[in-house]
Amino acid sequence: MSRQKSFGASGKCRPEDIVHVWDKVKVPLGQRSYEIQIGPGLLTELPARLQEIGIAQRLFIVTDSNVEDLIGIDLLNILQDADFEVTLISFPAGEESKHMETVIGLARRLVQLGADRRSLILALGGGVTGDIAGFLASIYMRGIPFIQLPTTLLAQVDSSVGGKTGVDLPEGKNLIGTFAQPLAVFADIGVLASLPGSEVRNGLAEIVKYGMIADPELFKFLEEKWWDVVNLEPETTSFLVRRSCEIKADVVSRDEREGGLRRILNFGHTIGHAVEAVSGYSIPHGEAVAIGMVAVSKISVARGLMAQEDLARLKGVLEQFRLPVEIPGSMDRQSIMEHMKRDKKVQDGRIHFVLTRGIGEALVVGDVSKEELERAIQP
Ligand SMILES: NC(=O)c1ccc[n+]([C@@H]2O[C@H](COP(=O)([O-])OP(=O)(O)OC[C@H]3O[C@@H](n4cnc5c(N)ncnc54)[C@H](O)[C@@H]3O)[C@@H](O)[C@H]2O)c1
Ligand SMILES: [Zn+2]
Repeated sequence: MSRQKSFGASGKCRPEDIVHVWDKVKVPLGQRSYEIQIGPGLLTELPARLQEIGIAQRLFIVTDSNVEDLIGIDLLNILQDADFEVTLISFPAGEESKHMETVIGLARRLVQLGADRRSLILALGGGVTGDIAGFLASIYMRGIPFIQLPTTLLAQVDSSVGGKTGVDLPEGKNLIGTFAQPLAVFADIGVLASLPGSEVRNGLAEIVKYGMIADPELFKFLEEKWWDVVNLEPETTSFLVRRSCEIKADVVSRDEREGGLRRILNFGHTIGHAVEAVSGYSIPHGEAVAIGMVAVSKISVARGLMAQEDLARLKGVLEQFRLPVEIPGSMDRQSIMEHMKRDKKVQDGRIHFVLTRGIGEALVVGDVSKEELERAIQP
């Protein structure tokens, strides 16, 4: 089946290379520990991988309408050919579906299809699917197990790791949800070949974030190998997904419920979220985060924590990935300020900002003044 190949051993990768591009990351969370497996062609092999970890229950693939056509139907066939009892259910693709009614609709489908407490959900898709299907699994019949099968770069490096699930409310994004860890994550980097450039850039912005907050070597790698990075060269992509998962898993395992350290993952996100919202969500998340990382780094530079040269390097790497580095001139600065005040992460009236000491070390501060912030977002 030709389609099978497109999400299997990605055309760019010779079989002898594959051993070098398969990787594993452990997420140490006591009894809820699990493994992230990374590599091209993983989904083609899913039956064997599921058997390895002792999965024998009835499976429900939950996916969105795009991924259903691109990957879902083939995966369904592969699992059925391997004698798994498996059903696919889907919802319309897009953030607009990320609300309670979708979860209720999917839950009702599960009941009608006879899903019980021994059933298992395979969350196949990007971050929207992972958040919806993980949330559904965590509340269906008081919780059934699930496995993440992330298919966007953003989902592979960010949303499928860490156990946050949930949906949006009209009042704001991700306002209802649970902490729920999957049994495993299988990130097939071969499926990324069909991702539109803008979706690749959303993932790249988060990878730059990991370099900035935790890993100067990763940052240097992005600068030096930018061509392989943007072209999703398999060995490079596999490394980037592994390193990103390691960093996020390390932070999350030390602070599962966002008491403190986990906040560093919000680097660039406070200003980024405001820019995203004020644009009416016409600026994609990755672009908004890129803008936010540059703006907040101006505060680090002004405080003498970071050299001007490091800010130039940050801008340089973002520009190579064709991510923006400035807030659009026409955007109302006052609206950005007001949005930040309403951010759900504001505590005791103080907004916490993640600053960096140079490249590779983050610190959380609660004392950024209104004036500092205004200067950072000025054109
Ligand atoms: N839970 C967390 O910790 C966490 C972290 C970050 C982001 N998120 C959430 O993730 C969501 C964003 O995730 P996303 O950017 O993956 O969005 P998404 O799931 O909407 O995917 C983006 C688009 O790509 C399509 N797609 C998916 N895989 C594809 C493939 N292989 N080829 C071609 N197209 C494909 C999807 O159908 C969709 O149209 C947001 O809702 C955000 O809140 C959650
Ligand atoms: Zn993000």
